[in-house]
Amino acid sequence: MKQQTVAIYPGSFDPVTNGHLDLIERASKLFERLVVAILLNPEKDGPFFPVPERVEMLKEVVGHLPNVEVDTFKGLLVDYARRKDARVIVRGIRAVSDYEYELQMALMNRQLAPGLETVFMLPAQAYSYLSSRLVREVASLGGSIKELVPPVVEARIRAKVGS
Ligand code: PNS
Repeated sequence: MKQQTVAIYPGSFDPVTNGHLDLIERASKLFERLVVAILLNPEKDGPFFPVPERVEMLKEVVGHLPNVEVDTFKGLLVDYARRKDARVIVRGIRAVSDYEYELQMALMNRQLAPGLETVFMLPAQAYSYLSSRLVREVASLGGSIKELVPPVVEARIRAKVGS
């Protein structure tokens, strides 16, 4: 029997955007199991949403995808991948500017765990400018983020920034 391929899509997801969701949907069609894993990073100060809230939002927006689970991890990604029996790390690349950072991470992860493959995927072109950081900034300054994040995320951001 063919071995099930488990893939991990790691990130901060603060918050999950339509670009992330687009990538999750694409990856969920390629791999038997996809684990969306949020980094628990107590040193990274000033998160917009605390991790439990990010988990809740992600769970809501991937609810229609039966082979996708949401989890958190701390420490090295390669160690987490080993615990999850994952063979693939999925990362999204929006533009050339993402490539250098992603290449560095992928090669470091390969150095640490040669059997783990990083797969780069492209989100829909419409989301190629989108980032969690810009969503946070636009929302904080009163701009509309309606087209940028799932409705559940928009509602939570609105509640947070009081708009
Ligand atoms: O969405 P982000 O913030 O760009 O995601 C970065 C993430 C979480 C994938 C990366 O920081 C990570 O994997 N951190 C875990 C620590 C680790 O394994 N570091 C060495 C890999 S280069």
